Parts: sequence; C-alpha cells; structure tokens
Amino acid sequence: MKRSFFILFAITAILAGCKSQAPSPAEDGRSPQEILFDDGNYAMFIHFGLYSKLEGVWKGKIYYGNAEWIMNHGQAGIPMEEYMAEAATFNPYGFDADEIVKLAKDAGMRYIVITAKHHEGFAMFDTAVSDFDIVDATPLKRDLMAELAEACHREGLGIGFYYSQFQDWTAPGGGRGPQTDATGREVSFEEYFRTKCVPQVEELTTKYGDIQLIWFDTPGEMPAKYSEELVALVRKNQPDALVSSRVGNGLGDYVTLNDMEVPVRNREGRWEGIDVTQVGWGFSKYDNEWKSPDFIVRTLVSTIARGGTWMLNVGPDSNGKVNEMAAAALRKAGEWVHSHPEAVQAAGPSPWGHALPWGDAVTQNDKIELVVFDWPSDGILWVPGLRTGVKSARLNGKRLKSSTEDGWLRIELPAVRPEPFASVVELSFDGTPEVDGTLAADPARATVVPVDFASTDGCVVERTGWTEKFGEWITRFVARGFGDGSSITWTVDFKDPGVFNVDLEYLGAEKLEWKMLLDGKDALIDLHKNTDVFAWYRLGWVKVEEPGVHIFTLSLSDGDAASAKVASMRLTPVGL
Ligand code: GLC
Repeated sequence: MKRSFFILFAITAILAGCKSQAPSPAEDGRSPQEILFDDGNYAMFIHFGLYSKLEGVWKGKIYYGNAEWIMNHGQAGIPMEEYMAEAATFNPYGFDADEIVKLAKDAGMRYIVITAKHHEGFAMFDTAVSDFDIVDATPLKRDLMAELAEACHREGLGIGFYYSQFQDWTAPGGGRGPQTDATGREVSFEEYFRTKCVPQVEELTTKYGDIQLIWFDTPGEMPAKYSEELVALVRKNQPDALVSSRVGNGLGDYVTLNDMEVPVRNREGRWEGIDVTQVGWGFSKYDNEWKSPDFIVRTLVSTIARGGTWMLNVGPDSNGKVNEMAAAALRKAGEWVHSHPEAVQAAGPSPWGHALPWGDAVTQNDKIELVVFDWPSDGILWVPGLRTGVKSARLNGKRLKSSTEDGWLRIELPAVRPEPFASVVELSFDGTPEVDGTLAADPARATVVPVDFASTDGCVVERTGWTEKFGEWITRFVARGFGDGSSITWTVDFKDPGVFNVDLEYLGAEKLEWKMLLDGKDALIDLHKNTDVFAWYRLGWVKVEEPGVHIFTLSLSDGDAASAKVASMRLTPVGL
C-alpha cells in the first residue's frame, strides 16, 4: 500500500474526526470508504434484532452460543408465528445512537456496521415491503438504522449495514424459510429476492445517506446472478460503498475471514477479521465470557500486523443497551488505541510476515513499530532477522540503548512496562529496512511455531474449524495424515547454542508415539496418553549445538495415525 504525505494528511484529518464533512478521495484514487477501511483498521460490528429481545433464553431454557440463531431448529426451534409474535412486545427504548457512537469513538473505532436484517427476516428499519419491522411491528416505532446513520454522519464515523440476503426464515421463498405463503401458494427464491431482498437493499442504499459498506452474509447456494445483481445495485446507489465477500460467488470488494480468525501469516489483499465481545453475536444473558481489554489490543494489533482490518462485535440487550462490562473493556482498550495511533492508524503489515515471540510489528512508512505484548523479565528485547542497521529505537519518544549481536537486534527496555497491555518501540532506519522473516527461537523465552510454517512430506497441513458451543468458530491449521514415512519439518533460526525444551500441541486417540529428528539425527522419542481436544505435551530436551538455522522433523512412530492432528511446536530455552 503506497502512502504519500498527502494521503497521510488526508487520513489524519478524517481520523481526527472532522465532523459531518465527507472525506475527500485520496491522491491514489482510493475512495473515502476505502481509506476508512484500509487505514482506520478498527470498526464496531453490532448485532441487534428481534432475537436480542430473547437474550439467548426461550421458555426458561438457555441456548448457548449464537443468540441470533435462537429461532433456528439447531437452537430453540421456535415456530415461525410464535417468533414473529415476539415483535409486539419488543420495545428496546434504551437504544441510544449517540451513546453507541460515543462508545465506538472512545474505543478508537472508525465505522460501525449494524444488522439491518438478520437471518430471521426482521427489519430494524422502516421498510415499505414488509410489516415485519421495528416501526410497523413493535411498540417502539423508531427506525433505529436511521438514528444510527444520522449519529454516525454527525460524528464523522462511517456507517454500514449487515443484510442477510439469502437466509430469511420468516419470508416465503427466503433461504431456509417457509416455501409457501399464508394461502399455501408455493413461493420461489426468485420471488423472495424480487419482493423483499432487492427492495430492502434499495432502501438501505438510498435512504440513509452515504454508507461505508453493505455486509452481506451467508450466501448459501444462491446462484451467481443474484450476487451479481446485489453488487450492481449497491454500485448504482452508492458507487463508493464496499461490498463484503459474503455476498457470495467470489464477488465483493474485500474478503471477510472466518468468524474469529486471525491468520498466522500475512495475507495479501483487502480483508477483514471479525470477532465478538461475548461468545456469540447477538446478546446472551448468561454469557459472561467478555473479551478483556488485553485481548482486544492484542487481536487488533495482530490483525493489522497480518495486513487486515478488524471489526469487533457488541450485542445490545433487549433494551438496546450495550452491556456495561463490554463497554468498559472497549473503552479501556480504546485508551491504548488513542495513545498509540502509530500502531493502528494507517499502519502497514509486519515485515516479518508473522508474529514474534513477545508480540508483533507493524510499519509506518520506513519505520517499524514493535508492539511488545509480553514484557521481557530481564529487560532485553531480542529482535531477529533485521538486515538493516537501526538508526534509533524509541519508547514513548525516549531513546533506548540498542546493539546488534550475531545478527539479532538487542534492545534494552526499562525493567517495568510503562503501560498496560502493550508498549510500542519505534525503530527508525535510513531508508526502507530489510527483514528476513525466517522463524527464530527467542533466546530468552518460549517461541511457538505453528504448523502453518512447516513443510510436509506425505502429510497435509490444512485449515480446519469447529465450534464448541453454537457458532463461535475456532479456525486452526493442523497437520494430519501421519502415515508410514510421512513427516513435517520446521526450519528455525537460533541465536545461541543451548538446550531447548520441546512441547507439541496436538490431539489424537489413545496413545501416540512421536519421533523428532534434529538436523536429520534422532533427537527425541516420546509417548503420551492423548485427548480429543488440542493440548500441549512435553516431548523433552534437545541440544542445539551451533547458532543459525536448524531443521526439526516430526513423525508419528506408533499409534492411531488417522486420529493424530498437530497444531504447533513450542521451543523454550532451558538456560543451559
Ligand atoms: C455467521 C452467523 C451469523 C453472524 C455472522 C457474523 O455467518 O451465521 O449469525 O451474523 O457469522 O460473522
């Protein structure tokens, strides 16, 4: 991403929150929406709908996970008429657009995306094509999308709408919805698309001023012509608004990763990571697994460091209020975001291409911003792979002592971290720094080496995902297929010779016996009783005789190969 001084200036002006004025396009041709997405790097997602009224509970029973799915047969299986009747008593009078916009700004977020219609088909705006909406069907009678859009425009935040284009569980012909209307007549998806989806997207793209994006979701088996038509419709009404990749069929202006995914390696192109402040997206009364400010800061920085932008969800409760604990965590993380704009705004991806043992790195033009999450207890920060000499290393403006040892940069930090969550060490150079991204074992602390970095011989490394409640996705890369003679290999750079403890993160049935070669020679063999969830197991110590690059090769020497899945290896210096 090229950034001239002019663009930086323009962004700074936008990000400073200049009110009501639409930002002007950048010199490089990017629209204000693209600038906000690329350089703002942090957004608020809001899941708010009729499901919020139920707060994850139906007839006294708790449904864990995604509360916005409570109507679905995978959750409470609420009959359509009964669910729709809930609208008559849905009265979220506590919804305060100004309060939400202020929260997003305090959090350091740059735009808001809110569910205008989720899978259950209830419109949170005043739609002319259905009465199943917040103005016609509830005692509240307020167009909350209009209120939020107006507040965002006034306060200089972008506003985007989530719209479930395929799934509609209450509209005849909608995906996974009733296939007949009230008279028993069969209704096609085509008819649903023409009479509800298209006119509602038309409304959302014409009635609410300039919008940041339309966040379509779950295209299902929708044929390409429908995705194409929706993209064209958004383009016609809002030429600069972005369209999410979940419009389907390979279309869209940027890619949304799997829910809750942060890639391990840098990823090219325009993309977004998304996560939640609770476990699910819609508010759940009994879910107290709030994301901490520490998690928020780390995940935000890690996503930006991989090259993406991050959107974090809040689910207002049945009264339209964001939970106080969630809001407090957002504000706390926001204090960090506001005091470290260099690590967030217009920050570029890490030149290492992956995280570092103590944190991560982003760039600002020719500067590298080292974001230290885990403060070294001996006060020394080791930075691998820098091939360009450092002009200065600064922490909060103060120069730090630094030197180069065996190709590693050694930075002397104050003994105590000066602030919560993370600190930023800014490295300056003459010109653009060169970095060798080979994975390196930190000389003083544990280094986790995921299988994403392994090469394979006979096995496969593949992406897998699962949920443990309902819908809260966990995405990992795992190595599997440890048959006869197959193995995976990691290449790791070491600053000093020494003894390292090796742990392996894996799952499998019964007992698995693993064998590790170091530089082609037998180094470790060990057996453990396993579980079917990923856990760390100790394999033992290896001696690294020389500094430099070493090869670790892992194979399964005994046990149920079909069940074995490996996620990562951890190398911890023993101090010998
Ligand atoms: C999934 C869920 C949906 C949620 C979305 C957020 O698509 O089905 O409920 O809104 O993730 O990314």
